[in-house]
Amino acid sequence: MGRFRKDPDPRFWRLNRSLPFDWQLAIYDIDQSIAHARGLKGIGVLEADELSQIEAGLERVRVRMGAHGFEFEGADEDIHMAIERLLGEEIGPLAGKLHTGRSRNDQVATDVAMVVQNHSLSAIELCGAAMERLLTLAESHADWTMPGYTHLQRAQPVYLGHHLLAYFWMLARDVVRFQLALDSAGVMPLGSGALAGVNWEIDREAVAADLGFAHVSHNSIDGASNRDFVLDYLNAASICAMHLSRLGSEIVIWSSSEFGFCELDESFSSGSSIMPQKKNPDSAELLRAKSPRVAASYQTLLGVMHALPLTYGKDMQEDKEPLFDAIDTVEACLDATAGMLEGIEFDRERMEAASGDEMLAATEVADLLVRRGVPFREAHGIVGGLVRDAVERGKSLSELTPEELCERSEHLDDSYYEVLQRSSWLESKRIAGGTGSAPLAKQIEEARETLAAVQARAREERA
Ligand code: ARG
Repeated sequence: MGRFRKDPDPRFWRLNRSLPFDWQLAIYDIDQSIAHARGLKGIGVLEADELSQIEAGLERVRVRMGAHGFEFEGADEDIHMAIERLLGEEIGPLAGKLHTGRSRNDQVATDVAMVVQNHSLSAIELCGAAMERLLTLAESHADWTMPGYTHLQRAQPVYLGHHLLAYFWMLARDVVRFQLALDSAGVMPLGSGALAGVNWEIDREAVAADLGFAHVSHNSIDGASNRDFVLDYLNAASICAMHLSRLGSEIVIWSSSEFGFCELDESFSSGSSIMPQKKNPDSAELLRAKSPRVAASYQTLLGVMHALPLTYGKDMQEDKEPLFDAIDTVEACLDATAGMLEGIEFDRERMEAASGDEMLAATEVADLLVRRGVPFREAHGIVGGLVRDAVERGKSLSELTPEELCERSEHLDDSYYEVLQRSSWLESKRIAGGTGSAPLAKQIEEARETLAAVQARAREERA
């Protein structure tokens, strides 16, 4: 460039050059450049035939970059400079008019916002697909019982459908967060210039409409320095990946021989190179392990932006690798989740046997005492004593005799033995949001409505 007499030192170039990763912005940068050129034509900076030449030239550049064996030049600093050079090769000096009224600062912010919009929507679509699988499984396993856990200790029995829907609602909240990222990336920075705005009164609203942005930024300083929309995406992606890690972790545990609650399809499992009998739940393990990497991307960009003086700083070039890596990771995880849930098989007998443990009825007995007027805390202590008696005497709870019950409380009569009938433990959870079949049926209804709304909105946004 004109100001410089020296070429960049290779050691600086290696650090500074963003092309090795920002080539992924190419398609967005070309779309943006076409819209910008139209904006320039709108204020008479470009003649109609110049605009057509630029548009056609950019389309040829798009094709060239997509061709097998295409290579950038070592002197191309970033994707924006590379595309400008390639356009020059196509249409000559006219290419130099394209950068009128635009800085790479607002250009790169706009490209990245386009990436975030596109991939927030992809994430919503993928969440929708995984939610659909979960809902289908919940419907077909609505009355299968399993133990619910706290501290990974058997706690209270629940229906498998209820447990699966817990993941449905996590993903439904992820959709809300990705929608927030989609909306916050819907504000176009282009027109902010380097930081102060530009000297050309381009119709920003028209350019924004052309590119699918809902709004234009209010303030050029904020426009050039804002990366909140990337952070919004990374926040949504981190939480989503964390949710999938919990699902993955449960599937790993459930598919062990010790639990034997479920089995993954072969197409989502791997064998061992040495032990021929092995069928490992690798897909679920990787869901578990991919999550911290997405959170690290979020942390990285938050660190880059921390205390960064306004407006643009080259630091902000470091927004792309965390974003691209998080996109690849979370999309792969969501896609694999939906696939993995297609072929999963649950073992009804194993789950039911594990949930038949009478100790899981301890809370039911305590509530029986409460119905007889005993304060819950006291009832809790009484039942704790019964559990101790049973354990010490090598009996199950229902094997305790009426006399033994009397030692603990005068309120324990034959109803005690009825309460221990497992059929009542789940159906007594009739409260809204509980595992009982009535609230579960209602929940399934609500989930179906939620899913339909998510899918309809996604289709609308995509169109
Ligand atoms: N490659 C740069 C980035 O990704 C583009 C913007 C460069 N702007 C500048 N003023 N040097 O951030």
